[in-house]
Amino acid sequence: MSQTFPPSTFHGPIKEVFPDIFYVQGTVKMGPAVQITRSMVIIRENGELSLINAIRLGSEGEAELEKLGQVKHLLKIGSHGMDNPYYIDKYQPKVWSRKEVGLGYEPDVMIEENGELPFGNATVFKFQNATSPEFPILLGREGGVLITCDSVQNWSKKDLKIGSFIGGIVTRLLGFLGPAKIGPMWLKTVTPEAGPNLSFDFERLLALDFKHLLSGHGSPLLGDAKNTLEKQVRKVTF
Ligand SMILES: [Fe+2]
Repeated sequence: MSQTFPPSTFHGPIKEVFPDIFYVQGTVKMGPAVQITRSMVIIRENGELSLINAIRLGSEGEAELEKLGQVKHLLKIGSHGMDNPYYIDKYQPKVWSRKEVGLGYEPDVMIEENGELPFGNATVFKFQNATSPEFPILLGREGGVLITCDSVQNWSKKDLKIGSFIGGIVTRLLGFLGPAKIGPMWLKTVTPEAGPNLSFDFERLLALDFKHLLSGHGSPLLGDAKNTLEKQVRKVTF
């Protein structure tokens, strides 16, 4: 049975942010002429690659990816996952996912807070009060590397250049721009109508030890991510 997958869209090179931790800035089409950035994290351990917030790469990018190691694990920690069926078909990785209806594939492992991961020295966090929880991952190296999807984003003006012109305008209008910013649309979407809100979750997140942020949107925030996120949390009305 042949299947068609979304084609790859424009992306930058695979960059090694820390030893065996890679980041790729790509794009996603939000509508006609509206293209915004999204990013993938790749973790290498013993020659095995784990892809988080996976983005399908072009043929050259894919060749580079294959030089890094074997794609063995695919992790869906948040909403991003449009290219997961492509990776599943191409490499048959072990699929780790949050609980979600309508995925179209069966995950091998459900991601849970403090649950198992395919690489060492890392823990899973859960936005417990979110109606559709995201599961950031904390790598316990380099002073702590927090990996998010939509919950915490890190857009700067230079990140707008990678998307389309109109995508840049939309991004600004929707209030995405800023360091370690809580995704405004994400927050609106996952905040429950009644009961506890997400401020409790962000306090728990800020209790973790991390210095760096690798988000599903924007670019790496290195060195001061926790302090920067704390300032953003204080600005938000939950
Ligand atoms: Fe997103």
